[in-house]
Amino acid sequence: MKTYSIATIPGDGIGKEVVPAGQQVLEALASTSSFRFEFENFGWGGDWFRAHGEMMPADGLQALKGKDAILFGSAGDPHIPDHITLWGLRLKICQGFDQYANVRPTRILPGIDAPLKRCRPEDLNWVIVRENSEGEYSGVGGRVHQGHPIEAATDVTMMTRAGVERILRYAFRLAQGRPRKQLTVVTKSNAQRHAMVMWDQIAGEVAREYPDVRWDKELVDAMTARMVNKPATLDTIVATNLHADILSDLAAALAGSLGLAPTGNIDPERRYPSMFEPIHGSAFDIMGQGLANPVGTFWSIVMLLEHLGEAEAAQRVMQAIEQVTANPALHTRDLGGTAKTADVTNAVCGLLKAQAQRKAA
Ligand code: IPM
Ligand code: MG
Repeated sequence: MKTYSIATIPGDGIGKEVVPAGQQVLEALASTSSFRFEFENFGWGGDWFRAHGEMMPADGLQALKGKDAILFGSAGDPHIPDHITLWGLRLKICQGFDQYANVRPTRILPGIDAPLKRCRPEDLNWVIVRENSEGEYSGVGGRVHQGHPIEAATDVTMMTRAGVERILRYAFRLAQGRPRKQLTVVTKSNAQRHAMVMWDQIAGEVAREYPDVRWDKELVDAMTARMVNKPATLDTIVATNLHADILSDLAAALAGSLGLAPTGNIDPERRYPSMFEPIHGSAFDIMGQGLANPVGTFWSIVMLLEHLGEAEAAQRVMQAIEQVTANPALHTRDLGGTAKTADVTNAVCGLLKAQAQRKAA
């Protein structure tokens, strides 16, 4: 029987609740499928930092390298500076495995009360492609003369032709595979006159390789207004690391809750495992209370299954998710409900098993 080896990294905060919930869903799925999962859990994150002085072991990537995929929770700890938790764990994996495409689908799921009054569910069906290896998050920069009046600091945006070409190609390909074949390239080349001008220019070049994809350009500030006022004019969206970070939070909020939003950090060339995670972060205010919405993790699992080539299984999980969101009694607190993480998880697992029984009957 086909067995996929999955690394689970709950990390911090509610990551420790939603990743085990995700594992439960994968196990329920496997019990009614022709494949199995083998899990290895890695207790990296804030607690590991307190015990070992680092967020993950220096050779940690070696342990992940042979896995088929990684299911990640979140990195962040109230007692450790955010840039240390982020760079010491999540970005170390993203950059170490060159997961250069960060993919963030957004839709208004059934039963979700999204905040825009003039936006029907069918008007908002986007995939944001975030450049995930360079740009504003390249880590280039420095800080000198700390504490002195002449203190100076820089964060340098690095854009390389190779990096821009590959993310734009990925986005055009993704757009090409969607029914509307439509891509919006987000830019800020009016103000940032070097890297973003190169970005625009490369977009024009790459576009010629995909003549069947309709594409346009939008400045990032105007993009926020377009997402709110004309959501139906958008389909696939590609943006730099920071621009897409900001736009994807807006997208998730417009679709009803950050707690629902999934993401995949993908190595399209499959040299390394890709990593899937909810985008909500560690949410310390609700950690340990069973209140976290696990749907962002479950939707990330859908992406994980698609990446493994298990399209039918992915569809089954998505169907179960949509049945659950359609039921207000299964809404967690972020959606205005009172359901607990465990209620939602048990419901999804139950539906997966029921689907299989129906099919067998
Ligand atoms: C995200 C998050 C992270 C990011 C944070 C936690 C640093 O907001 O995945 O969007 O900015 O990349
Ligand atoms: Mg973000």
